[in-house]
Amino acid sequence: MSNSSTVALIVAAGRGERAPNGSKPKQYRLLAGKPVLRWAIEAFVQNQMVGLIQVVIGADDRFHYDETTRGINLCEPIVGGVTRQESVLIGLEALKEQKPNKVLIHDGARPFVSQALIQRVVSALDTAEAAVPLLPVSDTIRRKKKSGYEIVAREDLRRAQTPQGFSFERILAAHRKLHDLTATDDMIIAEKAGMTINDVVGEEGNFKLTNNQDFKLAEMISTNTLGEVRTGTGFDVHEFSSGEYIWLCGVRIPHQMGLKGHSDADVGLHALTDAILGSICAGDIGVHFPPTDPQWRGVPSHIFLAKAVTLVRERGGDVVHVDVTLICEQPKVSVYRNEMRRKIAQILDINSDCVSVKATTTDGLGTIGRGEGIAAQAIATTRLRAT
Ligand code: CTP
Ligand code: MG
Repeated sequence: MSNSSTVALIVAAGRGERAPNGSKPKQYRLLAGKPVLRWAIEAFVQNQMVGLIQVVIGADDRFHYDETTRGINLCEPIVGGVTRQESVLIGLEALKEQKPNKVLIHDGARPFVSQALIQRVVSALDTAEAAVPLLPVSDTIRRKKKSGYEIVAREDLRRAQTPQGFSFERILAAHRKLHDLTATDDMIIAEKAGMTINDVVGEEGNFKLTNNQDFKLAEMISTNTLGEVRTGTGFDVHEFSSGEYIWLCGVRIPHQMGLKGHSDADVGLHALTDAILGSICAGDIGVHFPPTDPQWRGVPSHIFLAKAVTLVRERGGDVVHVDVTLICEQPKVSVYRNEMRRKIAQILDINSDCVSVKATTTDGLGTIGRGEGIAAQAIATTRLRAT
């Protein structure tokens, strides 16, 4: 890495105790189908100035991290410490071999950082060793006294946000030296170490998700910024033939028969591919992969699904939720349900919480009821960002 490089250090090793909700720490909760941390990471991935992103995670969070960052090219995450300050120092130490020039340190719990703000922080580092986004305080501030309150003049108060930018060498040295100090952000460390600091204007939208009330606001913002909601449906049927296994929703299942078809005959993925294509009015699977074309003979159907997702992305969109229903008497789908959800999530690069797989029979009625084949239907929800 060149010496003029800028790297991002995203700290996400906290437990989110002030925003309790099930078993996941807050940075892995979903906002409009996307984990909080992924929102934050994507902002830095999009930024041309940032050459490398190091994320610091909790010791028990690797599974959540892998799900969250699927499809994004990042360096190996590192396990953080008990306090934010420790996590930052561990992250800086992990980055030092790259010899970066500047580092942007960001809270993984701030999902809505804008490109403009990242840019302001980077530019402010041209003329100082540190840069911090600040906002004024608009509420009246009261300090609790032994009895009653006193009013604090708010004119001189500022709220500090992240990303905060630093000369890499200086902030690493400062963190090493001042590790006994208790600091809730890195500006405190920089100030104590005597670094020169530039202020930049922060953004109200770049708030830190701290408690469950913050999540209510974040949900409103995320659903509005993600653009137009689309849905599409898909349906497919494949007939049984001789064989010893079938492919269903990306999973190979031993069976006393196979499924007839041009590709691997994965009826679940075919219905889902059509649903996704439907959401962007991009025709159907046969348009993109004509069954008359020998190159698609026997190919795994995840290729079709991946193509549909690529087309959505090219339209500036994301797949945010899918639901597949498999209709058959045999095999018993419930055993494979979670594996299918994981497979589909992997192909779509989304969280498996946003992938549903269901199954039903037709109560012995009709061709499916007689066990002559398997049918599948699917619905996909996509969001197309306003252009
Ligand atoms: N953080 C960290 N390591 C810690 C503590 C915090 O990397 N030991 C990160 C958090 O993951 C978060 C940021 O620092 O992205 C700001 O911290 P905070 O909002 O306090 O998050 P939590 O510590 O997770 O929340 P809480 O204090 O409510 O438990
Ligand atoms: Mg904390």
